[in-house]
Amino acid sequence: MSSNQTDVVFFDENGLRTDQRKPDEIRPMSIKIGVLSRANGSCYLEWGANKVLAAVYGPREAHPRRMQLPNKAVIRYRYNMQSFSVEDRARPGPNRRSSEISKVSREAFEPVLFAEDYPKAAIDIFVEVLQADAGTRTAAINAASLALVDAGIPMRGLVSACAAGKVGGKIVLDLNKPEDNYGEADLPIAMTEDGRITLIQMDGHLTPSEFEEAMALVQNGCRQVLEIQKAALLEKFASVMNDDEDDI
Ligand code: CDP
Repeated sequence: MSSNQTDVVFFDENGLRTDQRKPDEIRPMSIKIGVLSRANGSCYLEWGANKVLAAVYGPREAHPRRMQLPNKAVIRYRYNMQSFSVEDRARPGPNRRSSEISKVSREAFEPVLFAEDYPKAAIDIFVEVLQADAGTRTAAINAASLALVDAGIPMRGLVSACAAGKVGGKIVLDLNKPEDNYGEADLPIAMTEDGRITLIQMDGHLTPSEFEEAMALVQNGCRQVLEIQKAALLEKFASVMNDDEDDI
């Protein structure tokens, strides 16, 4: 977020954004589930120019053993940005930003996972950002959600994530890179299928009424993402379901 956005043009004469989207439109998303053979579940997801890969392992015995919890599974989430994923090379290894994103993303999944059913186990979620263009934490959560399903891990429902923000004085959905860089606010959220918010962060400033407008928009964005996630699952597993029907 930058306060120096006066010289940046965010909208054309038709009110369309720099990438020709309407204010309430998300970037195109494409999804492939089950792309890694060694992981229990995986998902490759592109959202605009973001490219992320999620891999899920578990539930499996937690190692090192001192991390085991006697009454539930430990859920671990590692968000990692590849050094080649950004314009300036990102320094490899964990940093404050990746640790924060990993923590809040793990918490975004805790309410939907049945950790108490797997004492001493670990559910490991790894996300690699291969190409970043604003919104990588939300893209990563959407991919991780589908990788968890692909791993066959029981869940109360999917988690869907999206951001809204304020650019050029207007509330818009799913900020792209220039909007993220030079806009006034960014509000990423994640929510469950029944609308429970499991992650909320805010960078920048919104008035209370702008916040309400952004929340309504971003919840609608999450519902759009949910539909795309469900369609990807149907595409992946419809053939399996049809095979099962043939067997009856
Ligand atoms: O990616 P997300 O919007 O979740 O997180 P951010 O911290 O708001 O970063 C916004 C964008 O800045 C990222 O998506 C990257 O495109 C870029 N970025 C970068 O170029 N170098 C970094 N070390 C971190 C972020």
